[in-house]
Amino acid sequence: MAAGQTERGVPLSTLNPKFLHTNSTSHTWPFSAIAELIDNAYDVNAKQIWIDKTQIKDQECLTFMDNGNGLSYDMMHQMLSFGFSDKKAVNGKHPIGMYGNGFKSGSMRLGQDAIVLSKSKTDLCVGMLSQTYLKKIRAEQITVPIISIKKPEANNVLEEHRASLRDILDHSPFNTQEELLTELQAIESTGSSTGTRIIVWNLRRTFARHMEFDFTTDRYDIRIPSDVLESTTEPDQRPERSDSSIRESDLSLRAYCSILYLKPCMQINIRGQKVETQLISGSLEYIKKCTYMPMFVNEIIPITFGYNKMSKDQYGIMMYYKNRLIKAYHSVGCLRNVNNGIGVIGVIECNFLKPTHNKQDFDYSDEYRNAIRNVATKLEEYCKEIRFKRKKSNPSDNVPVEETEKRLDQNWAQCDECQQWRRLPDGINTEKLPEEWFCYMNPDPQFRSCETKEESEDSDSEQPTNLKTYKIQ
Ligand SMILES: Nc1ncnc2c1ncn2[C@@H]1O[C@H](COP(=O)(O)OP(=O)(O)OP(=O)(O)O)[C@@H](O)[C@H]1O
Ligand SMILES: [Mg+2]
Ligand SMILES: [Zn+2]
Repeated sequence: MAAGQTERGVPLSTLNPKFLHTNSTSHTWPFSAIAELIDNAYDVNAKQIWIDKTQIKDQECLTFMDNGNGLSYDMMHQMLSFGFSDKKAVNGKHPIGMYGNGFKSGSMRLGQDAIVLSKSKTDLCVGMLSQTYLKKIRAEQITVPIISIKKPEANNVLEEHRASLRDILDHSPFNTQEELLTELQAIESTGSSTGTRIIVWNLRRTFARHMEFDFTTDRYDIRIPSDVLESTTEPDQRPERSDSSIRESDLSLRAYCSILYLKPCMQINIRGQKVETQLISGSLEYIKKCTYMPMFVNEIIPITFGYNKMSKDQYGIMMYYKNRLIKAYHSVGCLRNVNNGIGVIGVIECNFLKPTHNKQDFDYSDEYRNAIRNVATKLEEYCKEIRFKRKKSNPSDNVPVEETEKRLDQNWAQCDECQQWRRLPDGINTEKLPEEWFCYMNPDPQFRSCETKEESEDSDSEQPTNLKTYKIQ
């Protein structure tokens, strides 16, 4: 192997193609790989992302298309390299990506090969990260063909990218320059002049040589068959769960995407249909907010508790990091005992903790343990308080809280144009709203325009409260 060198003659480290597979194994659960690609679209301010399954020349493919900022040639090179990430907060929105690895680990977990087509303000670019290609050319190092097209009308590729172009055409599903260009043009169908389209092929198969995803049970979803979930992931490496039960969000990409962001601000479309999302305040009943001041961090962190309106069987702590779900339905404290805290959801955004590489857990640090201990104590107080209050208001009522009928107490709708959330007046049934809803349909004139900034979720009532009222009484 001829090693590259610096000008001073010191060897550069290199990466063997086998590393692509090794690196992808951090995603033990396939949806965590998909989430990496969704996060990347979120980080480049895409308003929408479309996830589809399609067939290109007999090849089953997964495609991810966003209308974000797109990439220049140099950015594409960074995207296909390792450890480069220079994302910064813009207008108060924090990026999720930080390791410079998510695209590589995620895409290579889903399939053997991926091609990225992108349209930025300045460039049209195509890059390929392909294990099949590297094997075929017997590469000893990871090489990534990248081309940029300056003038699409002339379809001319720079002279120095000729070798890359040859390799892309020989080893991707697109065998002519025209086919590549047509694929690039698909980005314009998003209604934006910039965006990125990622196609993954040679999708992973299970030991029985079946596709690891189930595309047929639900035509508008991507599902993991439950036997595949059980056979491909060790029970303790599956998304966190307290008992052996499998939740819908473990098996259905649609269900997972509906809770992936604490405050959804990008529309996710799976196989042509948008994912219905909800704000936490809309999905919980008996909401209580309290706060927690972590060790070593001079910041007050809100924790929201409530009873899950949808299903009492889904309970636990939802732990987010910079708006992104890391641990779902984590069972802490009294939730670990059967028949205790059933139906209770706690929500906390832990920007002070460090997510692990696959973004499905946090590092087990002192800060983490302290946070969990605190949340557990507050959760216990919350459960006691709710029980106490109910007993007091209706002493003869013996129906457990989780069995009572939940009412909708706060309604929010998301605008399909600006993706902002608008509070709806009481009495409006969100289920009866049109499929596509826009700010101008808002009954409240104050928030009837996309130009108007979103109202805070906490603007009325629900100020952080002291949970200990039951003790005082
Ligand atoms: N859909 C996309 N549109 C535009 N740029 C992208 C897209 N996906 C990735 N990139 C660029 O590629 C880089 C590498 O992405 P990758 O997911 O590997 O790392 P990251 O997001 O920076 O960090 P992390 O490993 O935490 O995800 C990003 O920093 C971003 O600049
Ligand atoms: Mg990323
Ligand atoms: Zn709007």
